[in-house]
Amino acid sequence: MLGPVILAASRSDKMRRFISAAPGTKQVVDRFIAGESVDQVVPVIQDAAAKGLEVTLDVVGEDITTPEQAAAARDAYLELIGRLKELGLGARAEMSVKLSMFGQSLPSPTTALNGEPSGPAPEFPGGHELALANVRPVVEAAAAIGTTVTLDAEDHTTLDSMFAIHEELRKDFPQTGCVIQSYLFRTEADARRLAAAGSRVRLVKGAYKEPASVAYQSKPEIDKAYVRILKTLMLGEGYPMIGSHDPRLIAIGQELARQAGRKLDEYEFQMLYGIRSEEHVRLAAEGHRMRVYTAYGTDWYGYFMRRLAEKPANLLFFGRSVLTK
Ligand code: FDA
Repeated sequence: MLGPVILAASRSDKMRRFISAAPGTKQVVDRFIAGESVDQVVPVIQDAAAKGLEVTLDVVGEDITTPEQAAAARDAYLELIGRLKELGLGARAEMSVKLSMFGQSLPSPTTALNGEPSGPAPEFPGGHELALANVRPVVEAAAAIGTTVTLDAEDHTTLDSMFAIHEELRKDFPQTGCVIQSYLFRTEADARRLAAAGSRVRLVKGAYKEPASVAYQSKPEIDKAYVRILKTLMLGEGYPMIGSHDPRLIAIGQELARQAGRKLDEYEFQMLYGIRSEEHVRLAAEGHRMRVYTAYGTDWYGYFMRRLAEKPANLLFFGRSVLTK
């Protein structure tokens, strides 16, 4: 019940200001966000490497409002890749990006200020072209240091554009990954299309508030769809990335990989920084490739609220922390 309310609050500017300023917020945010700057995240990557873990790095931010902010997002990733190169950490760290932060969420440049179309309707609405132009140099720079980028999945209205950008990037950088969400009805078909040689696909349950017209609403249905889709990915020719903390799905993932005859380096597990950390280490110790999605930066509000919505018990911890400050 609380999850959808928290997700609605994640889009509210008023709540953003209130929560960001509340005393005690930082203590809870720190559980999920690995730092505010590249300097703060580097020791986290080094610590993960010492434990045999890989990382995928997310410079938090989304729903930007100007092209300058989109360019700044691109530059933040380029700075990060520069540091990984200097430190020789390229092999351990890949990047995760949200295209909304690269300009996808901006209005279409063919829409005039009065809202009337000023040219032919674009194939994809919004800042699709701008997002592609901003993400390409990041993917290029990542490839130059031997690593790659995965395109996160945001709300369902953005996905046709995300998949088109993914396909475009894969022409030059076939290792570029993307995320699919088991709560969406469309995902089984997407998985069949994506389970092809060389593709890297992270399967997650999905973290946004989606209507019943496009998405399963109950946990059993979302979990069952997850298993069906994971089967497709495991039996396909791509590289499945199992993004979940759910112990049942992790066990099923191991079994499906075994049944599909996959070796340990032919799939991987992924979990979020700050969630079930002991499980990260346990799976790595068993010989699995385990990648920790490590978010950092100052624009943490949307990311943080989705983590609260996933486990409303986090809200109690948050409330207690605010009240005791
Ligand atoms: P589930 O929610 O059933 O949780 C299983 C168990 O994990 C819980 O019982 C609890 O113990 C623990 N847990 C899960 N979430 C927790 C939390 N926030 N706090 C504390 N404990 C928690 N989504 C999306 O829409 N687009 C994306 O691109 C991504 N990317 C992504 C990358 C990676 C690596 C992961 C692991 C997840 C995502 N997600 C995502 C988020 C995903 O859609 C989903 O919301 C969360 O992973 C929670 O679902 P679980 O599969 O963990 O199961």
